[in-house]
Order: sequence, then C-alpha cells, then structure tokens
Amino acid sequence: MDSVVKVCVTGAAGQIGYSILPMIASGQMLGPHTRIALALLDVPQAEDALRGVAMELQDSAYPLLDSITYGSDPREVFRDVDLAIFLGGFPRKAGMERKELLQRNMNIFKEQGQALNEVGKPTIKCLVVANPANTNALVLATNAPNLPKRNFTALTRLDHNRALAQIAAKASVPVDQVKNVAIWGNHSSTQYPDVNHGTISGTPIKQVISDHHYLHTDFISSVQKRGAAIIEARKLSSAMSAGNAAVNHMRDWVTGTKPNEWVSMGVVSDGSYGIEEGLVYSFPCTCNEGEWSVVQGLHVDEFSREKMEITKRELIEEREEAFSS
Ligand code: NAI
Repeated sequence: MDSVVKVCVTGAAGQIGYSILPMIASGQMLGPHTRIALALLDVPQAEDALRGVAMELQDSAYPLLDSITYGSDPREVFRDVDLAIFLGGFPRKAGMERKELLQRNMNIFKEQGQALNEVGKPTIKCLVVANPANTNALVLATNAPNLPKRNFTALTRLDHNRALAQIAAKASVPVDQVKNVAIWGNHSSTQYPDVNHGTISGTPIKQVISDHHYLHTDFISSVQKRGAAIIEARKLSSAMSAGNAAVNHMRDWVTGTKPNEWVSMGVVSDGSYGIEEGLVYSFPCTCNEGEWSVVQGLHVDEFSREKMEITKRELIEEREEAFSS
C-alpha cells in the first residue's frame, strides 16, 4: 500500500460516520505509520452536516490525517480510493414494507456500483455496512463488473464480536480468551452464530460451557436479536459498536488475521460449504497479504446445516427481490 491511503466513507454525515471517522483518522484502522486521505460522500441534503463533520475532523488535528475531501457525486468521491466503507443507505421508515426498503437501497447501490465501475481502482477494497448489507454488497459488485468480485464484502463482524462477548460473559472470562466463533449467512435475524469450532483459552467452547441447551437456543437468539435490543434501549441503532466492527474488518483484511484465528466476513461465495456461488454470505475467513480466504474443512453437523440453509434461503429471496425490477 502507498504511504497515504485514501479511505472513502459513504453516508459519512450519519451516526456510524460520526463514530468511525475518528477511529480511521487516529490510526486505529491502519496503524500509526499510515497517513489517511479521507473522501466523504453523502446526499446533497446532508451537505451542511458533512461540512461540519469535516470541520470537526480538521479541528481534531490528527497527525495522520493528510487531507479531507467531500461531496455528493460518487464518480468524483470514488476516484483513487483504496478502501471504501459504505454506510450510506435509505433508513426504514414507519409503515415501510421490507421490499420497498430493499428496492430503495438497491437503487443507491446500483448507482454507486456503476460509478465504481467507471472510476474505481482495480485494487479497491469495499465493505458494505448499510442494510441489507449482504444484498447491497451483491448489487454493488454486480454493477461493477470491471472490478474483481473479491473486492466486495459485507459487515458481519459486529455479529461476530457480539458472539464473542456473549460467550465471554457466559463463561466469565475476558473476551480475548474466546476465539473462532463463526457467523454464517445474512446480517439479519436469520444469521447463524456457530460455536462448534470455537475455543475458550484453548479449550473447546462446548467443553467449557456445559449448558448446550443455552448454546443451541438463547445464545443464538441473543446474537440474532442484539441489534433490535440496542434499538429498543437506545432508541437508535448501534453506531459505536458498528463503527468499531467495520474498523476491525478493514484492519484484518488489509493487515491479516492472527495465526490460528479467523473472523467472520460477508464475501462472495465460491460454493464452499454448499452455499450457492455468487451469494454474499458470511463465512469464517482468514486474511493474509490483503486477501481473504474462507476457512475450509470445518465439520458441519445436521443442526448447523439446517441453520445455514435457512439464512441462505433468505439471501436467495433478497437477491430475487433486488433484481426483480
Ligand atoms: P444514519 O441514517 O445515521 O446515516 C446514514 C447516512 O447515509 C445519512 O447521512 C444519509 O444522508 C446517508 N445517505 C443516504 N443515502 C445516501 C446515498 N445515496 N449516498 C450517500 N449517502 C447516503 O444511519 P447509521 O446509523 O449511520 O447506519 C448506516 C447504515 O448501517 C444503516 O443502513 C444501518 O441499518 C446499517 N447498519 C449495519 C450494521 C451491520 O452490522 N451491518 C450495524 C448497524 C447499522
């Protein structure tokens, strides 16, 4: 990577934008030796808010922050970008059908995919956070056929982090003792948080936590429904933890995962584990030299297979809805 890395954040005037931009500019994402050029995108109506965010970034006097540019034309903002984090999307409004939400976001990601196709660097790494994240990433990739499909990913790292935290709390251990949980499928309530291959301080989770009923029921639903629980408590969706997870995802993708550890990433399926090729599905992944790989050879029992299929079916439905008009 060059000594200055150009990082684009879309929807930068929103909630997650406000939480993630200080992390990026202070070096939490790419370390203390990489200078950052920020390119911020939002809609024209958010121009004043975006200008205010840029002013605050400037006033923070981050030593690593090389430059800040912003605008509402994706063809301008995406130029020369190395890493792009897509937060910008249409929020769900009261009374809005899921299908309508999907369609509105499809239009945004279609337009941005076409812009990337024209001006995107062939090496750009894209992370879609805006919901429905997996299908938005698929639409983005489909509309940017000049760029490799491997460049497009969706955020399920927040779900992964939530799973680590729930297991740590249950076992009363520090969270860094928990490794190799996996999130399979969609970033939605059908996702399957899987502890079958995970460890606590090197011992299988299923040996340390003897309450397997919990692992098969409340653990899974608490991770699946955590986003809704945060909205209920905060009256706003998760922004601090979402920004943190996006930074974790990009950092690991660029700088590599730790030896013998994996993370969860929504990536374009190559058919691994019987997941239809081309779907953006969350798998356990390792990263090395800027490339992700799906962890191979994990045993999938009947319980897991059923859950992995449910979330796969939802993604197929979303894909059909997204490309139906
Ligand atoms: P927000 O509503 O505060 O901000 C969204 C921003 O996107 C706004 O500034 C809006 O003007 C902008 N925007 C809308 N259309 C745009 C377009 N065409 N181009 C550029 N910008 C556009 O939302 P928040 O809380 O920051 O969340 C962002 C997204 O992330 C939402 O879709 C949310 O559902 C999703 N999310 C995903 C998570 C995940 O784990 N994958 C976790 C938490 C949130």
